[in-house]
Amino acid sequence: MKDIKQLIAQQVNIEGITADQIAQLIVEVDDADKGDYALPVFKFAKQLSCNPMALAQQVATSINDNDIIESVQALGGYVNFFVRKDIVVADIINHISTTANYGSSEIGKGKTICIDYSSINIAKPLHIGHLGTTAIGNCLYKVLKYLGYNCIGINHLGDWGTQFGKLIVAYKLWGDKDTIENGGLRELEKIYVRFHVEAENNPQLDQQARDWFARIERGDAKAVELLNFFKRITLRETMQLYDRLDIKFDSWNGESFYNDKMDSALDFLQSKGIITISDGAQVVDLTPYNMPPCLLVKKDGASLYALRDVAAILYRKAEYNFDKCLYVVAYQQNLHFRQVFKTMELAGVDYYQDLLHIAYGMVSLEDGAMSTRKGNTVWLVDVINRAVDKALSIINSKNPDLIDKESVAEQVGVGAVMFSALCNSRIKDITFSFDRVLSFEGETAPYLQYTHARCCSLFTKAEQEDCQPDYRVFNNSSAFRLARLINRFPAVLADVIDKYEPSILANYLIDVAKCFNKYYFEQRIISDNKQEQCAKLLLVEATKNILHKGLDLLGISAPPRM
Ligand code: ARG
Repeated sequence: MKDIKQLIAQQVNIEGITADQIAQLIVEVDDADKGDYALPVFKFAKQLSCNPMALAQQVATSINDNDIIESVQALGGYVNFFVRKDIVVADIINHISTTANYGSSEIGKGKTICIDYSSINIAKPLHIGHLGTTAIGNCLYKVLKYLGYNCIGINHLGDWGTQFGKLIVAYKLWGDKDTIENGGLRELEKIYVRFHVEAENNPQLDQQARDWFARIERGDAKAVELLNFFKRITLRETMQLYDRLDIKFDSWNGESFYNDKMDSALDFLQSKGIITISDGAQVVDLTPYNMPPCLLVKKDGASLYALRDVAAILYRKAEYNFDKCLYVVAYQQNLHFRQVFKTMELAGVDYYQDLLHIAYGMVSLEDGAMSTRKGNTVWLVDVINRAVDKALSIINSKNPDLIDKESVAEQVGVGAVMFSALCNSRIKDITFSFDRVLSFEGETAPYLQYTHARCCSLFTKAEQEDCQPDYRVFNNSSAFRLARLINRFPAVLADVIDKYEPSILANYLIDVAKCFNKYYFEQRIISDNKQEQCAKLLLVEATKNILHKGLDLLGISAPPRM
């Protein structure tokens, strides 16, 4: 990043104050009358016990002629700087175009981050509730990687628990291999729902389910074979969806993976003296921390979700020696993670503060057609298919001759759905509306993709030949604001990681797109003056690259034509 604030600060002289201290206070200004950057001097005036207005005045008159600042003005306790826009813009563009992988960095070098995300449950489809974890986890993974971290993406499969006993009973009663093999998850869900309906009048079914689960726990071959069958069916379908979303994981170690690690996890906690027995169950008492006990093992000896997470933490630390382990999981599990992390703290592990729950809000659908009804979850694949269909019909009416229509519609539909989970502060609940997310205007992925495609199309139209760029064409506010904004890309990525907040990137890209479109409409890019056009296209190119990379980091593709 070109640090323009630093360059300005170096021209400012205030007794006893360093350029760094000055740079830190300089702000960007968006008001043409008040310059491009402003320095409030109140703090320094206080330090020097002088009048801020007098100090501002003094600073303004002391600035010498230089490359960067065109004029200075003192206004109240502020010094306003008007920069030489053409020079600054050219400087930024040259910097961006000569920096490989602009925005990437090495700050993560040598550090490992585990990211537990998407974490599906076997025999259940990815539903709309998984959109947040999938999109946010994937984005954090990609941004962290771009900043040099070694990332381990973990899909902590929900492949353990009494529900699998239920599923086996249901399968034995009403299922058959071929139907499930061909019908996949829809068929599995059908028999699972039927189990719950029938068990209401037939409590014996629940007992049978417990028996089957006990067999799974004992490692009984027949029971485990069935569990693996359900797992295969689930993963087969889910993988297709992950492929469409272009999401990959480094590890699929889920709950069942920790079966043979339960005892040592328990021994570990036991050796720290923090396990108590309550009604025959093994728990960690968390009363002093105003939390219900962390349940580890049930009275009947069955291990619980929290103990599996303890085992997973110990395993991940040993296997990856992570610097941080992130859990991108809905806020409904706030208590669970507070309990587990507190348990690790009480067990005295020195890395308990490196375990972070990255909580996010719920997604619901605005229109009734696909609302969540009892026993009827909204499948992510259905939402995506519907978005893709709608995208195709929009393309058919707006740009029917587009080549590769189907594949563009896929990219637009998938992108729109992904973006909807990334553009709001992650903790907020969101209501999903097809019309809104597929709009080519406003804060949507198609708007970003469309702006990116507009940049691409300019290169096709330009009939470029080799020429010297005439940078004087950048002496205007719209070019300057755009350059100043794209210059900020590296800082934006750092901020995303600092707060684990993809919406910072999503909103930034919207600003870039808006700023570009303003520039595009105000300054004709295609021009008879080849030198001017050549310069303008350099700015277009930098913008296009940032939109492309930014979208990619959000997990969204950017087709060159739309
Ligand atoms: N499978 C769980 C669910 O869908 C999420 C698992 C989150 N990860 C973890 N290590 N507990 O609710």
